[in-house]
Amino acid sequence: MQTFLRGRDLITNQEWTKDEIDTIMDVAFKLKRERALGLPHAHLRDKVLAMLFFFSSTRTRASFEAGMAQLGGHAQFIESSTTQIAHGDTAKEIGEILGRYNDGIAVRQVDWNYGNKYIREVAKSSRVPVFNMQCDIYHPFQVLADLMTIIEKKGDPRGLTINVSYAYASSYQKPISVPQSLILLMTRYGMNVRLTHPPEFKLMPEIVQQAQDNARRHGGSLELLDDFDAGFEGADVVYPKSWGCMLTTSDQQESSEIGKKYTDWIANERRMALAKEDAIYLHCLPADRNIEVTDAVIDGLQSVVYDEAENRLHAQKAVMALTM
Ligand code: CP
Repeated sequence: MQTFLRGRDLITNQEWTKDEIDTIMDVAFKLKRERALGLPHAHLRDKVLAMLFFFSSTRTRASFEAGMAQLGGHAQFIESSTTQIAHGDTAKEIGEILGRYNDGIAVRQVDWNYGNKYIREVAKSSRVPVFNMQCDIYHPFQVLADLMTIIEKKGDPRGLTINVSYAYASSYQKPISVPQSLILLMTRYGMNVRLTHPPEFKLMPEIVQQAQDNARRHGGSLELLDDFDAGFEGADVVYPKSWGCMLTTSDQQESSEIGKKYTDWIANERRMALAKEDAIYLHCLPADRNIEVTDAVIDGLQSVVYDEAENRLHAQKAVMALTM
């Protein structure tokens, strides 16, 4: 267990050691148990978190805000379009100024080729920890909740097969940050990771390489597939979700047109039956219902999406309590 994490940024889990992530899990499960028992845990009394959003959110916003209140502090919601950020406040100014008002700064900025750079610029100028609430490359808190859910439902993740798969959606071109963070983290936990996608929906080659290195180091594996059905076969955990083809085109309209070739990439009962009988279905949400996944699957017995969403709260509280 690592006990000196005060002041640390969390921009990607890859920058935290396995021991440190184990500590997050340990504390997250403890805080979850304490909340179930009604035991107060005001570790951040009088502390304030700034939550800066450049993109919409339901779960991330609500869970960080609830988490800060439960830890005895407060979270302030700041939206880029309704503040002077829209008129030119720079990343450096945000880091300097919000860092002087607050004890932590959390940012969601998912613009392709920009979000991660922006968050790192804020972190460079901030005297307090900076948290990535999702950028163009990573969604670290989502996959901490996913790891927690897998451990909760399946026990030791080593040797389990997880299928991280593209699925079709029509609502918007979703960032690649969730599948990238998943393949990076789950390979560090000894899982056999399948990355399944059509040829146009590749992830960043350097991230895939890092995941391959993680697998080698931690006794897992990384397998690349382009057959949607094959990804489900014999899997213990299935995580079919949509993302845009950012590596093929930066044009959202073109990405949407390419996606239309794959409208049959929908998670349905027939495909779930290809996975292990006790396989669990994960999705970070929001999902395009009956386009990306059928109601029968997402509302079915194998779906653990509500426990997964709940675990955002506990994982984030753990990181905030350890770092702020
Ligand atoms: N999964 C997730 O990050 O949800 P929100 O976009 O609603 O925050």
